[in-house]
Amino acid sequence: MHVMKKNIGIIGAGHVGLVTAGCFAKMGHHVVCADNDTKKIEKIKKSEMPFYEPGLQEMIEETCKNGSLVFVTTIAELAKKCDIIFIAVGTPSTEEGGADLSYVENVTVEIAKALTGIKKETADGEKIYKLIIEKSTVPVLTGEWVKRTLELMGPTGIEFDVAANPEFLREGNAIKDFMEPDRIVIGVESERARKIFEEIYASIKAPVIFTDVKSAELIKHASNSFLALKISYINAISQICERVGGDIEKVAEGMGYDKRIGRDFLKAGIGWGGSCFLKDVSAFIKLSEDIGYKFNLLKDVREINREQRLFVVKKAKDLLWNLKGKEIAVLGLSFKPDTDDVRDAPAIDIIAALLKEGASVKCYDPEASENMKSFFPDIVYCENPYSAAEDASLLIFLTEWDEFKTLDFGRLKKIMSMPHVIDGRNFIDAKKLKEAGFIYRFIGRDKA
Ligand code: UDX
Repeated sequence: MHVMKKNIGIIGAGHVGLVTAGCFAKMGHHVVCADNDTKKIEKIKKSEMPFYEPGLQEMIEETCKNGSLVFVTTIAELAKKCDIIFIAVGTPSTEEGGADLSYVENVTVEIAKALTGIKKETADGEKIYKLIIEKSTVPVLTGEWVKRTLELMGPTGIEFDVAANPEFLREGNAIKDFMEPDRIVIGVESERARKIFEEIYASIKAPVIFTDVKSAELIKHASNSFLALKISYINAISQICERVGGDIEKVAEGMGYDKRIGRDFLKAGIGWGGSCFLKDVSAFIKLSEDIGYKFNLLKDVREINREQRLFVVKKAKDLLWNLKGKEIAVLGLSFKPDTDDVRDAPAIDIIAALLKEGASVKCYDPEASENMKSFFPDIVYCENPYSAAEDASLLIFLTEWDEFKTLDFGRLKKIMSMPHVIDGRNFIDAKKLKEAGFIYRFIGRDKA
């Protein structure tokens, strides 16, 4: 497919920014990626990625080598070279749960300043036009603020549009999610901006939803909140299952075959975590409150998730009576498998609660131990699952890493001081646990 090469600028070399930069470069565009963290940029140039994402390192290496991707450390440089500028900086949570938009504001001011210093016309006498695009997850109405800031602080004589093009990529699957998305959402206010988007995404086969900027901003928050809601819903049903002796796995299967419901995101367990869901659900609740709507449904989604994590600790007490002085082995620390990310990982709340009860914790994770050390420097981090399990009274699985499915449960039983297992993700074969002689618990499958 012939790609009409565009000069694209990406501000922010975080998960979204770096993946977007690499993917656009791979698609054949000329990409400039800027981040003011000079150390980070130096490392990326040496092919050291700031986080683990399958395929990213190779893609960045290749596109840097063939010249389609370059890194800079100032927005001024980027704004001069690129007419299409994506803002992909962080939008962390404020103390009240809202989105902290100060990075987005700073970057917008920087862009405005940078544009002041450039020529107002092309060599052919055409007025310079810039398209500024929100890529980070932002609350609705942010686009209006970006536009106002550019109008107030930017130079006269340059034409520009502000657009929203939210990203839906999942960690661990980010490149595929970018290149083969379920849909591309684009909020634009002009035909000119719309045409540019058609050109930059021409090689991607996916339904494209063109809308106004506010609706595009809403689609992102509404989608992430809905996914969190779906998981909290199945976890709420898991609580009902436990009380009557139903099996949540069968209930979810039976529900999921209904095409209107769908099978994805109906996996019960210890709930959702990660860098996006809590941040986005909380920001959506806060935004709604600010504009006069009490989004109690989403408050419940958040609360169900919080309680679901602690449900594991209740199960531990049901098995061990007192937790004080008991050794507990925790297998899996990351918020989901195939990542070293522990941001808002359920393991954080669960380990904290176990320690509060007086238990001592030994843990193992194939990738995430280093990151967890900043939360719990004093617990024991083991090299393999077996050393974590040695002398433990209970083994708890918190992340469904593939390698845990094939553990030698007979060996585990022998080295533990008591034969207890809690599977917080319902992924271990019950038959294996039974054969090895364990007393075991799942989520939503145990009769209370
Ligand atoms: C999510 C969204 O999926 C993505 O579209 C958005 O851009 C960013 O946030 P990510 O945080 O990478 O992506 O993780 P995801 O794979 O969605 O999982 C989120 C959490 O939900 C994990 O903790 C996972 O274990 C949990 N989960 C997921 C369940 O508990 N049950 C499920 O059925 C699915």
